[in-house]
Amino acid sequence: MSEVSLLKQLARSLMTGQLIAASDPHRLHWHLAPPVGLLNDPNGFIEAHGRYHLFYQWNPLACRHGAKWWGHWSSADLVHWCHEPVALLPTEEYEINGCYSGSAVLNSDKITLIYTGNVKYADGSRTAYQCLASENSDGTYQKLGPVIALPEGYTGHVRDPKVWQHDGLWYMVLAAQSPEIKGKVLFYRSEDLQQWECLGEIAGTHLNGLKEFGYMWECPDLFHLNGQDVLLCCPQGLAAEKYRYLNLHQCGYFVGELDYQQAKFPHGQFRELDLGFEFYAPQTTETADGRRLMFGWLGLPDDNELAQPTVKYGWVNSMTCPRELFLRNGILYQQPVKELQQLRQGNGSQWQGTAGEAPEMTAVSAELLIGVNGPFTLSLRDNATLNWDGECLTLTRLNWRTQEQESRYWFGTLQSLQLLLDSSSLELFINDGEACMTARYFPDPAKQNLRWQGHGQLSIHHWLLSSCVIE
Ligand code: FRU
Repeated sequence: MSEVSLLKQLARSLMTGQLIAASDPHRLHWHLAPPVGLLNDPNGFIEAHGRYHLFYQWNPLACRHGAKWWGHWSSADLVHWCHEPVALLPTEEYEINGCYSGSAVLNSDKITLIYTGNVKYADGSRTAYQCLASENSDGTYQKLGPVIALPEGYTGHVRDPKVWQHDGLWYMVLAAQSPEIKGKVLFYRSEDLQQWECLGEIAGTHLNGLKEFGYMWECPDLFHLNGQDVLLCCPQGLAAEKYRYLNLHQCGYFVGELDYQQAKFPHGQFRELDLGFEFYAPQTTETADGRRLMFGWLGLPDDNELAQPTVKYGWVNSMTCPRELFLRNGILYQQPVKELQQLRQGNGSQWQGTAGEAPEMTAVSAELLIGVNGPFTLSLRDNATLNWDGECLTLTRLNWRTQEQESRYWFGTLQSLQLLLDSSSLELFINDGEACMTARYFPDPAKQNLRWQGHGQLSIHHWLLSSCVIE
């Protein structure tokens, strides 16, 4: 379809849909969510010229997956965001079924996007092109076309280029699938972002000591952190175990050492990035002050996704809060970025004592820092519970589709929790971010409180959070 036709449809979609979406009682107060339609992966996350840019997979025309566009927000502080002109619309042959996920780099001072042009054929097969687009002075993007065609020896499932610069050259990790239907990560090098040389597979099923490890690894991201290299990826097709790999698709990381010359990435074991229900396709960037920041999709393409009650209001999904990453003893720690403290209203309130005697607290849009000494149960708006029994931290929620309770688990020694709540989301950071649990939940909007039980000793600092306006 032509760009003009698509933009006319976008105009109608926004004119009819935006007020409805905004009236949803489950509309998020301080998370980035689509004005209308469906959002999925964070794309092109970059800090450039003193502003953060976050692009996103977007279907502005319906609450379903399909031919994706790239929406675009920017911010000076990661808290207050502005809508920017839509960056990419699927108008060309080489991207006709979607401008799929990708990343951004600064090239000759201009933001340059590297994304996947997705093309599907009538017989169900598909191909993919890795494409470039560069920033115009008015904040729109100009497409420069494909720079990598489907590599030989792979199926049509090749996508999600993540590009970075190292010693004056550009490098890319790219998700791919072998003809045996095994997930792989390809490694490329370029001098100019135009000509790319494939250096081979650096990770995936049957590599680096892994046995069977999934049929596709979406959204790879590779970066250096605290002296080591970390590969984030989203393997699809791992069998669920009793306490892990419980979501439809997984998202996790390997810590290793990238050998740029040999194109090898020997690495350690796979660990899940998030032990909650909704977390997928994260993307990181390095900021000017040297921090490694990450946004994830606070969602997942499973059976629950399009059964969310927000679909009736014409929008679905959101980003996680921005998080800073740290590597400590081989574990990737995540913490909400410090800028989010701007959302805290006043000094908050503090309480200390036996869990069962703690007062009820508002949970709709709130942050809690909890020091834990002994078992407790926390009910979140009568729709989810967090239970610590001294060995296992269990997050249980009511599944909005099946109406059944379901749980996720973390085992360890619990010392502290940081809980970030929005009207229909929760993000839990365990022991300063040693592990995380992220989820959507849809409580009755009239039920707004947290209730405590148990004989453990707790210290609780509670803040209400301000809404963050997207202009
Ligand atoms: C991950 C993903 C990517 C793809 C995009 C399409 O959620 O499937 O692999 O590029 O979403 O929207």
